[in-house]
Amino acid sequence: MDRVVGRDRWVEEDDIQNLPYICAIAKETMRVHPAATLLAPHLSIEDCKIAGYDIPKGTTVIVNTWGIGRDPRYWEEPEKFLPERFLGKNIDVKGHHFELLPFGSGRRMCPAYRLGLMLIQSTLANLVHGFKWGLPDNVKPEDVDMEEEYGLTTHQKNPIVAVVEPRLSAHLYV
Ligand code: HEM
Repeated sequence: MDRVVGRDRWVEEDDIQNLPYICAIAKETMRVHPAATLLAPHLSIEDCKIAGYDIPKGTTVIVNTWGIGRDPRYWEEPEKFLPERFLGKNIDVKGHHFELLPFGSGRRMCPAYRLGLMLIQSTLANLVHGFKWGLPDNVKPEDVDMEEEYGLTTHQKNPIVAVVEPRLSAHLYV
């Protein structure tokens, strides 16, 4: 088995700042597969114009964050999963960059976004660091079913079957 020589321990919260690629994967995942495809209904607080449309005060506005995340006006090759697009860019998920709003923005923004983001990043980092991942013998990467099921939140339609092998010392898994 291909055991880890250095860093034979689990990834901790403090490590995340040194793992830019993990953070980029988390952002890219939330861009193409946002948990909430439509944000909570927001009310327009004054008459305004958006993309040429008149929006009267009091209108219920529903933001399609799934559509924005795949819009070619904002993203190069939007259908491709490319975490590298975030490396060296200051674009974050804190509601300031409207092309990426997995936690929403403004007064109705997810109040637990820091917790949610940290959970995603540290779970992902530990799954990658702690296990060697593969597909069953008869499955090719291009055959993995990424279809989603839409509802109030989005989830995978069919579960992915993966083959995992521990990479760290055995005592860390008990
Ligand atoms: C990765 C995990 C999470 C994601 C992606 C997420 C995403 C969202 C989104 C998109 C909204 C709507 C924001 C808007 O319309 O502008 C929202 C609202 C909310 N979230 Fe989260 N969330 C997550 C985790 C959590 C957790 C862990 C909690 C609680 C402990 C939480 C509590 C809430 C609450 C209470 C609201 C409603 C806020 C309001 O309407 O004023 N979320 N979340």
